[in-house]
Amino acid sequence: MKEGSVVKISGPTVVARDLEGASLYEVVRVGGERLVGEVIRIRGGLATIQVYEETTGLGLGEPVIATGEPLVVELGPGLLGQTFDGIQRPLSALALLSGDFIRRGIAHPALDREKRWDFEPLVRVGDEIDEGRILGAIQETAHLTHRVLAPPGVSGKVVEVKGGKVTVTDDVIVLDDGRRLSPLQRWPVRRRRPFKRRLTPALPFLTGQRVLDCFFPIAVGGAAIIPGGFGTGKTVLEQTLAKFAAADVIVYVGCGERGNEMTEVLTEFPRLVDPRTGTPLMDRTVLVVNTSNMPVAAREASIYTGITIAEYFRDMGHQVALMADSTSRWAEALREISSRLEEMPGEEGFPTYLATRLGTFYERAGRVIPLSGEGEGAVTIVGAVSPPGGDFSEPVTQASLRVSGAFWALSTDLAYRRHFPAIDWVQSFTLYAERLQDWFNEEVGEEWIALREEAMRLLQKERELQEIVQLVGLDAVQDQERVLIESARLIREGFLRQSAFHEVDASCPPAKALWMLRLILHYSQRAALALGDGVSLKAVLAAGLDERLLRLGEVSPGEIEAVGAALMTEIDETLKALART
Ligand SMILES: Nc1ncnc2c1ncn2[C@@H]1O[C@H](COP(=O)(O)OP(=O)(O)OP(=O)(O)O)[C@@H](O)[C@H]1O
Ligand SMILES: [Mg+2]
Repeated sequence: MKEGSVVKISGPTVVARDLEGASLYEVVRVGGERLVGEVIRIRGGLATIQVYEETTGLGLGEPVIATGEPLVVELGPGLLGQTFDGIQRPLSALALLSGDFIRRGIAHPALDREKRWDFEPLVRVGDEIDEGRILGAIQETAHLTHRVLAPPGVSGKVVEVKGGKVTVTDDVIVLDDGRRLSPLQRWPVRRRRPFKRRLTPALPFLTGQRVLDCFFPIAVGGAAIIPGGFGTGKTVLEQTLAKFAAADVIVYVGCGERGNEMTEVLTEFPRLVDPRTGTPLMDRTVLVVNTSNMPVAAREASIYTGITIAEYFRDMGHQVALMADSTSRWAEALREISSRLEEMPGEEGFPTYLATRLGTFYERAGRVIPLSGEGEGAVTIVGAVSPPGGDFSEPVTQASLRVSGAFWALSTDLAYRRHFPAIDWVQSFTLYAERLQDWFNEEVGEEWIALREEAMRLLQKERELQEIVQLVGLDAVQDQERVLIESARLIREGFLRQSAFHEVDASCPPAKALWMLRLILHYSQRAALALGDGVSLKAVLAAGLDERLLRLGEVSPGEIEAVGAALMTEIDETLKALART
């Protein structure tokens, strides 16, 4: 092992000499307390190290030891339900070791070494195996089968197989070249895990949020960003997606948000129940958290730790969603580190490679055939962005925009009016909609696309009319146009608005969303016809049908068809009756 010594300390950045031979991105242990750090620059015989822990108290001349390894994560059974810090130290185990706060220099393996798992081998002695091959299965939770995979780059002939109760480090497979494989494997976080082939994004990533699934859907394996000013609902939306989105595994990266916000996640998540399975939500969740009081370097590492864990479950053939809140805090960590390195700053002090880094992160999203060639897996990424002052022209929003496929812009104005989720339907967009059309046509209903377009057209029309109304007053618009304004209101308040805190409304399957749109647009059309038949606008509005339409969100998905069909008839009859009187 190479040993150097500390010659300079500047916050989380430390310079060491005599570390010749250490390579870029190699992990080192710094000082008597053996703080974990990573070499981020080598120049003129000096190695610059970013330290993942508090460096107060560290002194010049203290030793620095190179480990010969890059920053890696441990992958294997036992990841689910865990809460890790940015460099994958388990927070619960650490809390036990060092009290409430993480003591420095603590080394604790990410995966439990004692726990025994039931390993069911799926290869036999004599089998030729290739990289990515499924070697066996472990029922990690009631609903998730953990597939033990041959690590990338590993192949050979199986000469020994051990099934039954094993720990993560027990050898379960031995190959003819003497290689021993256990359920645990490691992977360097900064490198994307390989797969066989990318698949086109043709399936929707259903979020349960009407405004997203209907207006701005993304594909399984796609990437979306949620830019939004202070308090516009980024965290609530990310957490709502973590609860309801259709995924087998959720990796939630809480990156440098305010301390209390992460505490909420840590206390709330373990209490939640997965609405799809009725089992604890944590059973399908891995939390990677860094609060703003943890060192910036660990924050920088956390999104790589998160995405690597996500890719690992993808490689087993699972659907994974990664939520990152907020990527702006990550970018700020990058900026801080860059400035300590005295690099040439780019826009607003962010390093010039900000866009490249964001690109390599979002590129790790995808729907793929794994190395095993069996089944398919996906990583979908949803990253929150917190532009200062809610100004979307700032560098992090702009750079993220270019490397993601959907822009779910949160509007300060909507949030202020308590229209949640505050997705701005004018500014938001998705590049996936066209590719997903076939799926919605076939699986939800052929009217889906037409209704979606009609709803958007109404909202657009409403905007134009509102401008006129603002200029000359409501009296200046004709009754037919007022029906249109009224219909747009129903779409906004009855369809796009959705309460994250209402038991039923919090998540909405597309079949229910379809009924809601169908009813609102049917009403709109019939009301217009009634006016044509001489019914007064006042009489149409007084019929009170709008009240019913506004509460459709609260109708349970199981009842929507019956309730919807009845309401459809009622709309027809009520308006027809008005025309007769
Ligand atoms: N979908 C929702 N339904 C109901 N209320 C919501 C919803 N989303 C946000 N809110 C309200 O807005 C508040 C702020 O939301 P949130 O904390 O998610 O904002 P944020 O954008 O993450 O803020 P910050 O910029 O501070 O991180 C919430 O506490 C809640 O009262
Ligand atoms: Mg937040």
